[in-house]
Amino acid sequence: MLTKTTNYMKYSGHGAAFFAVVMGALLSPLTANNAHGAGANGPVNLYSYRQSFLMAPLLEEFTRETGIKVNAVYAKKGILQRLKAEGANSPADVVLAADITRIDAIAGEGLLQPVTSKLLEENIGPSYRHPDNLWFGLTYRARVIFTHKERIRPGEIKTYEDLANPLFKGRICMRSGKHEYNISLLASVINALGSEKAEKWVSGVKENLARRPQGNDRAQVRAIFEGECDIAIGNSYYLGKMLTNEAKPDEKKWASAVNIIFPNQPDNGNGENSTLGRGAHVNISAAGITKSAKHAVEAKLLLEFLASDKAQQIYAAQNFEYPLKKDVSLHPIVASWGSFKPDEQRLIDIAALHDSAARMMDRVGFNH
Ligand SMILES: [Fe+2]
Repeated sequence: MLTKTTNYMKYSGHGAAFFAVVMGALLSPLTANNAHGAGANGPVNLYSYRQSFLMAPLLEEFTRETGIKVNAVYAKKGILQRLKAEGANSPADVVLAADITRIDAIAGEGLLQPVTSKLLEENIGPSYRHPDNLWFGLTYRARVIFTHKERIRPGEIKTYEDLANPLFKGRICMRSGKHEYNISLLASVINALGSEKAEKWVSGVKENLARRPQGNDRAQVRAIFEGECDIAIGNSYYLGKMLTNEAKPDEKKWASAVNIIFPNQPDNGNGENSTLGRGAHVNISAAGITKSAKHAVEAKLLLEFLASDKAQQIYAAQNFEYPLKKDVSLHPIVASWGSFKPDEQRLIDIAALHDSAARMMDRVGFNH
């Protein structure tokens, strides 16, 4: 289904329809722009894995400040394939993804160009950008543990490692082991502990599952509320979204039943220098400029805008995430969870272990 919104194209689903949107939405503004010469004032053409409701307000603000229009195409899948197929003729200037795996796969295919920007380097720390500045993180979130407020005592679970303890047999709910979020988490465990220990860990977690992996992260919180399990893994922002979901007030009830635990914190007895105190696994949303960008100057302005205080604050708060630029204020609900130490293993190293982690999930039969 395609929905046209002012200046933006919204897309849900994938396949042939996605290509149609690209052709329809982007060729006309490009043609118009080329007719006026070098394209000094954009527009910027954005391919986004991140949804329109999150991006549109930011893009509108960017246009208000700079006068540069943004044509955005939203897709859940297929952006990498599209960029490859389009090659040097791609209309895309900027690509935005909601996780490290997807942005790094695009970089890995040689489809992004290095960006030299003092502002981006200052605002986004080295763990959260590509070593050659092919992409920059914008926001991050933690993969946390949700526990039932009464059925799990405070301090009973402190680490991802605890989830493999036979004490919790039949008490954990999780979404599919094939989902990027869980594959990234396992990749971070492989990077921290080595393959052998990581495989033992993920088998242990599987042994403790209350049911076959199913549903999204919110469904796991619901299952805790309904008594099917006591512990779940999910992304931190879902708790904020559920607690404020006026359209589906049931979600508020589900979310109110759980505590949020940031795993592997050094200050809860795990030790600053041990792998147990390595911090909570985080993932990022990130953006880069395509190698074939026709509006690279404007594209860089868009990236710098997204890394600015104002955009960081709006962007992070809207999705209950954490801004990557330091000293930017948090949404009050996110702030109420307190501060935590993120696992600072380089995300690019975690992305490199993606395929090993996916194979490991299959090997242990996580979904069976
Ligand atoms: Fe999500």
